[in-house]
Amino acid sequence: MKYSGLKGMQDLLPPESDLWQRVETAAQGVFRLYGYQEMRMPLLESTDLFIRSIGETTDIVEKEMYTFQDKAGRSVTLRPEGTASAVRAFIEHGLHTLPSPQKFYYCGPMFRYERPQKGRFRQFHQIGAEAFGAAQPSIDAEIIAMLRNLLQNLGLKELNFELNSIGCQDCRPDYRTALLGFFKDRLGDFCPDCQRRYVTNPLRILDCKVARCVELRAGAPFVTDFLCSHCRVHFEGLLTRLTALKVRHTLNPNLVRGLDYYTRTTFEVTSEHLGAQKAVAAGGRYDRLVEEFGGPPTHAIGFAVGMERLVTLLKGISEMQHPAPRVFIAALGDAAEIEGLRLAEELRREGYWAEPHYGGTSLKSQLRRADRLGADYALIIGDDELASGMVKWKNLKEGTQGEIPLAEVPELIRPRPGV
Ligand code: HAM
Repeated sequence: MKYSGLKGMQDLLPPESDLWQRVETAAQGVFRLYGYQEMRMPLLESTDLFIRSIGETTDIVEKEMYTFQDKAGRSVTLRPEGTASAVRAFIEHGLHTLPSPQKFYYCGPMFRYERPQKGRFRQFHQIGAEAFGAAQPSIDAEIIAMLRNLLQNLGLKELNFELNSIGCQDCRPDYRTALLGFFKDRLGDFCPDCQRRYVTNPLRILDCKVARCVELRAGAPFVTDFLCSHCRVHFEGLLTRLTALKVRHTLNPNLVRGLDYYTRTTFEVTSEHLGAQKAVAAGGRYDRLVEEFGGPPTHAIGFAVGMERLVTLLKGISEMQHPAPRVFIAALGDAAEIEGLRLAEELRREGYWAEPHYGGTSLKSQLRRADRLGADYALIIGDDELASGMVKWKNLKEGTQGEIPLAEVPELIRPRPGV
């Protein structure tokens, strides 16, 4: 019986896994500079948490959740995103009682039962950041700058930072009315989903990817023309700060996002090198969610980067490096093999990746393995070497070789400045 992975779920193998680790390390490094600390949330939450936060009439909740009953008959869902869980944890652990703002990041798998295609998977991974308790546009600007810095540090350029404000509960009803008026006469030409959205959640029509709907909504009123004075001041404040922080951005008045919890600021980072699924990261403000979940009124903003899409971009700009050992230890005979194992342990204690020979093959095939692994050095231990306490070495990168006392191996393989 042969098994294969489930559709839309991928194995992550070397050397790509090494690239992922580099991204995660880079993210942790950048986030620390801004005071974001790690939060680890469960993969499984009560279904209601996602319905109430993401929104009953969103694609995620309507079509894409991995929902099932646990053994006690509770409805549980594999998290489709991290924000809802972060908000739950924030309230559950009383983090709102700590000085504001509280800033967190997380990293891990998310699950959406979407049609798998390029850049879209059923299990995918996000690195996300959420800041709670700051109302001013300075935090919006800072979190966007943090995302810019992360992507820049990784060497990514040619990214578009798209920005919008979708207003608040005060100004959105007027916008909704204007949208209904605009769509009314042409409703019959929209896709069945949009016809339903017209009744349940007309803003979602702006998010529809069906080509005909995109055409039909050209000329629809812009949300930014309906902002109340508070939302307008906030948005203008954000734009001023982004300019001060030299974050190049473009305004996209159709950026309403596919989740219902957003208020005011929404943003997406897109790349033309990703095909149809071009958002590598996305986020926004969600000033009402903590309160809706039973916490005190708490402003909040966050984003999530899609790891698979980020790694696709990184693979496009640089060759993937195969991590390689510093030293391969070839051994001829049982006693030499044991000495090789011992030496490898010693070198690892010194911080070097050492690969010993595990027995059984000729010296020639051992050296072939050293080459294939990309080791910098090969050491050769045989009976003569054991007797004399010396070891033969080859620098596989420079083509040099020699013989030294065993005790001097760490000195030999120590990287020299500039080499
Ligand atoms: P989202 O736009 O649903 O937002 O997802 C964020 C990013 O995750 C997307 O821009 C994309 O890169 C990646 N992504 C989403 N779905 C998939 C998929 N099926 N396959 C591969 N990558 C995918 C959120 O999840 C919000 N929680 C972001 C946020 C945090 N807003 C405030 N705080």
